[in-house]
Amino acid sequence: MRTIEWEDNKLKLIDQTKIPDELTYVYCKNYQDVIVAIKDMIVRGAPAIGVTAGFGMALAYLNGDDLDKAAQEIKDARPTAINLFWAVDRVLNSENPLDEALKMYQEDIDTNMAIGKYGSEVIGDGDTILTHCNAGALACVDYGTALGVIRAAHSQGKDINIICDETRPRGQGARLSVWEMQQENIPVKLIPDVASGFLMSQGKIDKVVIGADRIAKGGVVNKIGSFMVAMAAKQHDVPFYVAAPLSTFDIDASIFDTIIEERDGDEVRYYGGARICPEGTEVINPAFDITPSEFITGIITENGIIDPI
Ligand code: MRU
Repeated sequence: MRTIEWEDNKLKLIDQTKIPDELTYVYCKNYQDVIVAIKDMIVRGAPAIGVTAGFGMALAYLNGDDLDKAAQEIKDARPTAINLFWAVDRVLNSENPLDEALKMYQEDIDTNMAIGKYGSEVIGDGDTILTHCNAGALACVDYGTALGVIRAAHSQGKDINIICDETRPRGQGARLSVWEMQQENIPVKLIPDVASGFLMSQGKIDKVVIGADRIAKGGVVNKIGSFMVAMAAKQHDVPFYVAAPLSTFDIDASIFDTIIEERDGDEVRYYGGARICPEGTEVINPAFDITPSEFITGIITENGIIDPI
């Protein structure tokens, strides 16, 4: 399954807002379409956003647009995942934007396969692994980071069970990660976001593997709720791994300076189209949180497993 494809000088994206009900595609013909796709979360997940943004720059180049203006506008689409900024700058500074975007596309797949290979070494036969949000093929070009580790372990014949939490408010765990695991017959169960601490206390989770939107000095930024899972894991001595490519690192920055995206309150007020609180309820809806380094057992990269920075 390819989340992103370059087809007839257009960018073809799986519409992630429709999964698991429908597998449909959205086509971007210009960089403005790409901005809409990123903002509306038709495409989401740090590596996928990065490669999509790279193709957005390629479209701007092919359409004869002002590349500096396009770069700024694409960077303004979402603030937190560093891959977006990394990809736009990389393509902007290249000789041929389309070639560079195509290179990034292939690199993403190769990188995830390498992450899977290294990460699978820490997964034991019989493990039950909790993952949060979606760091799978849908969050990348293909294969995935955290779910890449799981795919690799499964393909080696390890008997593993996956637990996905819902990942409120947008439900990436329930809608996307569960769907991906089911596509490949990898045993998966869904739990409410609030259940992981209890399950760890019962010895029912052996490892946690999540993705990342940004890694810098002091910790990791990932989907809201990651820090609560990490705290529960530390309390119960459950190893907590982050799987991410080196393009997610911002090694000179402090993680605590990251801009955390604040999203529309209706994502919290409504669930499955139904309002779940009194009309007009005020909402706080940060999309990401920060897990400090002391909660992280290791970071699985394409070059091997390293300590948090
Ligand atoms: O808001 P999203 O869905 O773009 O956020 C993505 C995440 O935070 C995921 O947790 C993911 O692990 C990081 S990208 C592989």
